Amino acid sequence: MDKYLVTSALPYANGKLHIGHVAGAYLPADIFVRFKKMMGDDVIYICGTDEHGAPISIKAESEGVTPREVVDRNHDSIVRSFDGLNFEFDNFSGTARPEHVKLSQEFFLNLYNRGFITKHTQQQHYCEHDKRFLADRYVEGICPYCGAEGARGDQCDACGKLIDAVNLIAPVCKICGSTPVIKETTHWYIDLPKFEPELREWLHSRRNWKDNVFRFILSWLDEGLIERSITRDINWGVPVPLPEAEGKVLYVWFDAPIGYISSTIEWAKNTGQPERWKDYWLDPETKLIHFLGKDNIPFHTIIWPSMLMEQDRNYVLPHDVPANEYLNLEGQKISTSRNWAIWVEDFLKYFEGDLLRYVLAVNAPESKDADFSWKDFQSRVNGELANILGNLANRVIKFAQKSFDGKITRPENLSEKANATIEEAMKMTGWIADSYDTYKVRKAVRTIMDIARLGNKFFDETEPWKSVKTDPALAMETLYVCAEILRIVSIAMTPVLPVKMAQLRAMFGFAPCKDWREIEQPEIFYVIDHVETLFPKIEDDRIEEQVQLLLANSKEEEEPEPTLEHKDEIEFDDFMKLEIRLVKILSAEKIKKANKLLKLRVKIQGEERDLVAGIAKSYPPEELVGKTVAMLLNLKPRKIMGHLSQGMVLAAEHDGKHSVMVPDKDFPDGCGIA
Ligand code: 2FM
Ligand code: ZN
Repeated sequence: MDKYLVTSALPYANGKLHIGHVAGAYLPADIFVRFKKMMGDDVIYICGTDEHGAPISIKAESEGVTPREVVDRNHDSIVRSFDGLNFEFDNFSGTARPEHVKLSQEFFLNLYNRGFITKHTQQQHYCEHDKRFLADRYVEGICPYCGAEGARGDQCDACGKLIDAVNLIAPVCKICGSTPVIKETTHWYIDLPKFEPELREWLHSRRNWKDNVFRFILSWLDEGLIERSITRDINWGVPVPLPEAEGKVLYVWFDAPIGYISSTIEWAKNTGQPERWKDYWLDPETKLIHFLGKDNIPFHTIIWPSMLMEQDRNYVLPHDVPANEYLNLEGQKISTSRNWAIWVEDFLKYFEGDLLRYVLAVNAPESKDADFSWKDFQSRVNGELANILGNLANRVIKFAQKSFDGKITRPENLSEKANATIEEAMKMTGWIADSYDTYKVRKAVRTIMDIARLGNKFFDETEPWKSVKTDPALAMETLYVCAEILRIVSIAMTPVLPVKMAQLRAMFGFAPCKDWREIEQPEIFYVIDHVETLFPKIEDDRIEEQVQLLLANSKEEEEPEPTLEHKDEIEFDDFMKLEIRLVKILSAEKIKKANKLLKLRVKIQGEERDLVAGIAKSYPPEELVGKTVAMLLNLKPRKIMGHLSQGMVLAAEHDGKHSVMVPDKDFPDGCGIA
């Protein structure tokens, strides 16, 4: 028997739960946990809401309520969503609870006392209007790495890179929209470089992790670890437990993963054995498995293990971090700001939770992004669940009721074909278990549906509606084989469709299955209890209604009109006043004490002139000699740093660099430009 501590990334309590969350970090975990419990392993499934961080205080401020109110409202909504989707957490806590605050401070102090936390005074955005520092999500701008707009002060969603807010291009304050200034503030940092040797060694023992996860980690390590700040200037969060850090809180990403432990402590208390959490967190045999979406990989594989390594207790380190890719919706990225999302609570007003579980499992974003569309949802429910699985149950049970008084008995001897069919199904259950074991939910579900197909095929080929008239024993064999297949499916599919499989089993008078090993114990005698339609078909108009709702509720992103900033318009005659000509540079030299300026001598046909040009940072003087460039000839002469300048060389400017304008054909000096 193995011991597992399974977690799902703590959902932010700044909003509700949508199907993208479910597909990535939650459903795969619930399925895994249910499977492992059926295998008889010792498993607890721990989660809770992530209740700190700037988004929550921003929301509270914009609504004029306390952060606590925002957190409670969303916590309740998230819990309702999980309940409606038939999740079975062993504990679902929240990170604003006192136990969590205490433990997070303890984590900080341990790292601090062991010399893994440094302190720096740093530059940070400060909004003069709001009179505050703008932590993380209080500031947005253009990503310095990929150029995407709307990058936040801590991370860019487009490229996934972690950002130091002061590097954002064109930053704006999220509260009032003004441009912040840069000011100094003091923060505490986790010294990741100091962890590097230990971390590298440990990570290299984790080669069995999923490819997508390992690739991410290697690219992080290759870029080199840097100190990461773990405190913030906001007033919602875990207070930094140092007297000199008055008014500062721990960064939400520092305290969030500690929530896995504090939630386990809460669980232990609730079971009446408050020390029991240690059986999991402090036992090196425990397999700690973190399910999450890919954006959470760096925190769980680099920062969180580092935090765990330098504590007074020997915490277990992550055994595996099965991270999933993203789920898109109708071909577009899910976006909460555009409301391009299906909120679980809304879904549950129209459809049963297990249906969503099926569709998200069969199409899980395991190794690449997947797409949810309402049409696909309908066709999977109708074409797979109803037509294959529901149909098999329906035809077998109704036939048994009609022809055999609802009783199905194993024949003394099974035909070769019957045996072969059951054997094949049994062989497939081995693959299914392997798939569950290795987080391959798509494959598990697809293989189970293949078993159901096998049942339908057997029913069709043996034609019991004919044999029942000539050889009832043969018809009974068909029913028996199909009932066995339904029984096998009802066990194998329980982790994915717990409620629906309980319903299916109840039709045969069975309790919900709790033990996977029952698969191998054939039933000899079935007595039908009742029949019901397991998967009613979804009509087109119900799907159309959802598509319309999605479109009606989503907002177009307000793309700002691209406006090119320029000076006021001028008349053509104004332009004609400019005398621009090609000139040839005869000599160039630096001007002392003016590191941006060069003194040039140029030739225009027969005439020579002196110029001062601010391009010294872009050109060593000798590079300019001999070039033919554009110059404004009739600019009133003026003295610059004591040197006469009779005109102006034209140059393009980009990022503080200059490029002089040279004709792209070999034209002589003196040519006019217009
Ligand atoms: O990305 C998120 O939604 C975070 N709230 C996940 C936190 S996971 C863990 F560390 F708690
Ligand atoms: Zn502001």
